[in-house]
Order: sequence, then structure tokens, then C-alpha cells
Amino acid sequence: MAKKEKKSGELLFEEYYGKRWGDRWPILRESLFTEIDHYHLTEGLLQPYFLDEASLYPARELDVREGEEVLDMCAAPGGKSLILAAALKGTGSLTLNDLSPDRRRRLRQVMENHLIPEWQKNIRYTGFDGSLWYRHEPSRFDKILLDAPCSSERHVLNSPEHLKKWTPGRIKSLAPRQFSLLCSALDAVKPGGLIVYSTCALAEEENDLIIERLLKKRNNRFQVEPPLYEKGEDTRFGRHILPDRETSGPIYYCRIRRLSEG
Ligand SMILES: C[S@@+](CC[C@H](N)C(=O)[O-])C[C@H]1O[C@@H](n2cnc3c(N)ncnc32)[C@H](O)[C@@H]1O
Repeated sequence: MAKKEKKSGELLFEEYYGKRWGDRWPILRESLFTEIDHYHLTEGLLQPYFLDEASLYPARELDVREGEEVLDMCAAPGGKSLILAAALKGTGSLTLNDLSPDRRRRLRQVMENHLIPEWQKNIRYTGFDGSLWYRHEPSRFDKILLDAPCSSERHVLNSPEHLKKWTPGRIKSLAPRQFSLLCSALDAVKPGGLIVYSTCALAEEENDLIIERLLKKRNNRFQVEPPLYEKGEDTRFGRHILPDRETSGPIYYCRIRRLSEG
């Protein structure tokens, strides 16, 4: 019997996203090759930091106020951390965590090169596995940004090497990691505190379906809140900023409030 030919990563990728996005896929796909609109973050910084404009929103949606205790659970290289630090202005505390030592070094450099010294004195750098955070510091933070490791389809599509190796297994292995990071964040935030969960993924399995699973497993502990800013398109639980309709993205985010009794 003839051996079944193995499908290439590129074909699997096309089949997967073509099926999910339907008629929108060719335009959405094309938009992932276009240069993103770089936003020059300057407010209170020693020098501008360039980032995808869509990346501003998860950090802004956390609505950080002076004096709060804030955790950026997956912080490197640090674009969103700069926004959180600028909101705190050296008050309260800002814990910047990342599991990767190399990326953590880069994170520290970004902070040191961009933030005035007074705005660095409240920063603590850590290298924990975020999914185990609940063991170290349960109910500690007023606010947590969880910008989770994700499929990053823009990157895959623009890298022949990554595209060649792509399989749907990539999403299947990321989704449980994202879910356990989010469960851990829910334990690490104070009762009444806020989490923003975000990814730069297109796959629903890494976005709304993570929130849906949390609703099934921990429904009595939190509520989903509407976004503060008008940007992108509504999804079932959050917002998606997509580059075929905006000049930046993809970025997905969802605001999650731990209940006072949760
Ligand atoms: C999407 S990136 C974060 C981007 C960053 N928030 C920014 O705006 O520059 C995800 C980060 O999560 C880190 N990471 C992956 N698994 C982790 C874990 N279990 N705990 C903590 N950090 C993790 C990766 O090293 C990576 O730097």
C-alpha cells in the first residue's frame, strides 16, 4: 500500500486558519505580511520605545493607579511593562517576571534604558514559572497583566523555518499552559483585583476558549468585565485587534475581575 504523503507545515497552517476564518482569511493573511504601525511610546521616558500600537491596549486596560501592587507575569522584553511603570511613577510596586533568563536580561536593559531612575525604584525582577505563582504569593496583587506565550501567527507566517515546522499541535500544547497561567493569576490577584489576559494569537483556542474554560472551572470566583477603550472588534469575552481592519495587531485581550468573595 502506498505511504500517505505528509502535509507540509505551510499547507497545515493554511487549512487550519482558512477553515476558521473562512472568506476573511486571504485578506487577514495578507495583512500579516504588512509592516505594523509602530507607536512611539514617550510619556515620561528617557528615550522613545517603539511597539505595535495594538500592544498598548492590554496594558492600558489594566487601568493602573499610583500606589497599586502590580504583577506583569510574562513581561519580557518589556513594552507593556513600560506603560505599567509610567502609570505607577515609582509608587506602589511593580513585579516584572519572566521565565527566560535571556529575555529577562533584555527586559532589565529596556527598563534601565528608558525609565527615569525614580520610576525604577519600585521594580522587582523575578524569574518564576508564572503557573506556580499562586504557591509563592497568593492574593498579593491589585492588578496582574498576563501577556501569555502564544502562537504568534504573524511571526510564524514571516519565518519560513517556523512555518515549515508548524502543526495544529502547537496550539494544542500552548492552550493548557495559557490556562494554567491564568488560573495561577486568578489565585495571585487579591479578591476584587483585576487581571488582563492577552495574547498576540489569532487562534480562538488561545483566546476566548481559555476564558470559556475558566468560566466552566472557576465560574464562582470571577467575572468578565467590558473593555474600557473602543478599539478592535468584540469577541464573546474580550476584544481582538486585527491587522486587516486596523494598522496593528493581532492582539486579543480580556478583563477579568476576581470577585470580592472569590
Ligand atoms: C508574549 S511574550 C511577553 C511580551 C511582553 N509582555 C511585552 O509586552 O514585551 C511571553 C513571555 O512569556 C515568557 N514565558 C513563557 N512561559 C512562561 C512561564 N511559565 N512563566 C513566566 N513567563 C513565561 C516568555 O519567556 C516570553 O518572554
